[in-house]
Amino acid sequence: MNILLLGSGGREHALAWKMAASPLTERLFCAPGNAGIAREAECAALDLADHAAVIGFCRANHIDFVVVGPEAPLCVGIVDDLEGAGIKAFGPSRAAARLEGSKGFTKDLCRANGIPTAAYERFRAAEEAKAYVRARGAPIVVKADGLAAGKGVVVAQDVAEAEAALDMMFGGGLGKAGGEVVVEEFLDGEEASFFALCDGETAIPLSTAQDHKRAFDGDKGPNTGGMGAYSPAPNIDAAMSVRTMTEIVQPTLRAMQAMGAPYKGALYAGLMITREGPKLIEYNVRFGDPECQVLMLRLMSDFLPALLASRDGMLKNFDLRWYVDPALAVVMAAKGYPGSYARGTVIEGLDDAAAVEGVEIFHAGTKAEAGKILANGGRVLNVSAIGKTVRQAQARAYDAVSRIRWPEGFCRHDIGWRAVERETRDAPP
Ligand SMILES: Nc1ncnc2c1ncn2[C@@H]1O[C@H](COP(=O)(O)OP(=O)(O)O)[C@@H](O)[C@H]1O
Ligand SMILES: [Mg+2]
Repeated sequence: MNILLLGSGGREHALAWKMAASPLTERLFCAPGNAGIAREAECAALDLADHAAVIGFCRANHIDFVVVGPEAPLCVGIVDDLEGAGIKAFGPSRAAARLEGSKGFTKDLCRANGIPTAAYERFRAAEEAKAYVRARGAPIVVKADGLAAGKGVVVAQDVAEAEAALDMMFGGGLGKAGGEVVVEEFLDGEEASFFALCDGETAIPLSTAQDHKRAFDGDKGPNTGGMGAYSPAPNIDAAMSVRTMTEIVQPTLRAMQAMGAPYKGALYAGLMITREGPKLIEYNVRFGDPECQVLMLRLMSDFLPALLASRDGMLKNFDLRWYVDPALAVVMAAKGYPGSYARGTVIEGLDDAAAVEGVEIFHAGTKAEAGKILANGGRVLNVSAIGKTVRQAQARAYDAVSRIRWPEGFCRHDIGWRAVERETRDAPP
């Protein structure tokens, strides 16, 4: 088959790496891709917002299957347009992608179907929202309804902070995404990311992960797209996984099907594991980044047949095999990220770093120029490793990081600390 992958980050590099290894793959293209993806696939400079151009590319290159990485094209209906043009595509339709595109939509779906989630209300104006905040008290969580690239949620410690967030959102601080807002109850617990593959009717659990969102060591500093991740999530055992499937994922699939918007594709449930059990914080309608990178390292099976089965409605009786070994990814970012940073700085030592046992380096924001690899984004590299323990995976990843010569970059030095602490605590003396 000829495959076209859409996207340009570390998630897409991991998907490209996995799909390039499939015996079903004849030619693998990626648009727009990056310097790392270019080692696995033929990169094409397409504007993903121009669906006609993507369709034209598919026709010209006899593409049999399109795999969509990021949420933005899904939420504006790229899968509908591709399928409408007779091209098979992996990912949810525009209507199904509302699970990520509108937090209010998902909250209403939870309420109507008894899916455990934080108590909430939806608002279209600041005054009513503020009255609700004052009535409920703090801590309380304020969320913009639409896609806000990780900047749409404020976990407010007091009423004034929540009111300021409401003023910012309704004042246009997040553009259209903040025109409607969800205010919800603060949930106490430990977070985990749960991934499932869905075909409209059936969902199969993939695996789980935890990530680090803050920029600096000790989970301090500003929020980012994610500075590192590891899989599996130590707080999701087999019983918790079954509960998540039966209490959250499966009722969601049934509800989406009942409203005529069957959900196909990767479903990423952001969970809070509370004393009462798993509660849904949010859905994402694609793989996480960098969570996808650690999942792909742990996946033993060919992934392409699973992606095809998701598209074709054939996941019933489908099974995937995983390495039990944990995997961990350290994000290397350009100094200044998530604020402003320089592009075009030179990265060296990548081959030496990739030679460390168990290590795979996925590129997130790079470009190749005159035989050199240059930084070309905020998050630039995902130094990933698999190991017998999280501690070993972590040691391997940081060994590789130490071989990379990039003075203009930085990373956190404590990715996986929570899991390593647990491992140490639970280890036999
Ligand atoms: N109800 C809640 N209680 C406690 N923390 C929350 C709650 N909702 C969100 N958060 C925190 O805020 C983060 C971002 O919220 P989320 O809904 O995942 O939005 P997004 O990923 O779109 O920015 C979560 O990962 C979690 O740490
Ligand atoms: Mg989230």
